[in-house]
Amino acid sequence: MLLEGKNAVVYGGGGAIGGAVARAFAGEGARVFLAGRTLAKLDEVAGEIRSNGGVAETAVVDALDERAVEEHAGAVVEEAGGIDVSFNAISIRDVQLVPFVEISRGDFMSPILTGTTTHFLTARAAGRRMAERGSGVILTLSSSAVRGFVPGVRLGGFGIAGTAIEALTKLLAAELGPQGVRAVCLRSEGIPESWKDASTEDWSAPTAEIEAHIKARSLLGRTTTLADVGNAAAFLASDRAAATTGTVFNLTSGTVVD
Ligand SMILES: NC(=O)c1ccc[n+]([C@@H]2O[C@H](COP(=O)([O-])OP(=O)(O)OC[C@H]3O[C@@H](n4cnc5c(N)ncnc54)[C@H](OP(=O)(O)O)[C@@H]3O)[C@@H](O)[C@H]2O)c1
Repeated sequence: MLLEGKNAVVYGGGGAIGGAVARAFAGEGARVFLAGRTLAKLDEVAGEIRSNGGVAETAVVDALDERAVEEHAGAVVEEAGGIDVSFNAISIRDVQLVPFVEISRGDFMSPILTGTTTHFLTARAAGRRMAERGSGVILTLSSSAVRGFVPGVRLGGFGIAGTAIEALTKLLAAELGPQGVRAVCLRSEGIPESWKDASTEDWSAPTAEIEAHIKARSLLGRTTTLADVGNAAAFLASDRAAATTGTVFNLTSGTVVD
């Protein structure tokens, strides 16, 4: 198995992407530490992992709370001996669909501040502990919105947040590489199966229409799945990807070509 003997922290582990990545990590033999705000959601994912023979633990952590993030990372090291993998799948409070000339400062800045803050705090907490041991992998998350330049698009600060997270990932790779720590950002296209709970009132078009639009732009004529993200994250977290750092892993099914 790819991650046998590794300890992996998944922030936002009760969410769609975090849950999928946690299941993939556990399926590859990692001991998974799920962190997020709502214990019931974390426990649901952990229960599923355990019933499939995996090892998962949960903790309530607000990733915008510096002290809570630090205390949790310290507790994981105390209990498990170290953090080998950190993955941030925390949602970033984006406000989309409002015209640029009308969006408020707060709504525009919300995803930029939230995304960079949780990625900074979680990567710093894990990175420090990984550097001390001379190894580790920090995985971050952005979206195709970083290249979402189509006429009339109304992304607010969402794409800028992803761009900042990708830049932060490269900075981490540069600073912590000499201490054996790798950093890679996963850039995903929208994942329709993760929208099942989303209210269509929040969208400019029904989700089926958005899915068709994504497929039409995809070089592969498909949409990215949660399993795609889990598989890629497990590979990138593993020693098989030992030569990969400071880059963005394209999970857009070809809607974005680098
Ligand atoms: N899904 C997609 O189509 C897609 C595609 C590309 C990129 N992305 C990126 O991935 C992010 C996650 O997507 P998702 O579909 O997995 O969202 P999701 O299902 O809403 O999961 C987000 C998770 O983040 C947790 N969270 C939010 N604020 C937190 C905080 N301050 N501290 C700790 N945990 C917190 C939530 O927990 P609580 O519910 O307990 O607050 C939730 O479990 C998106 O926001 C976006 O930036 C998503």
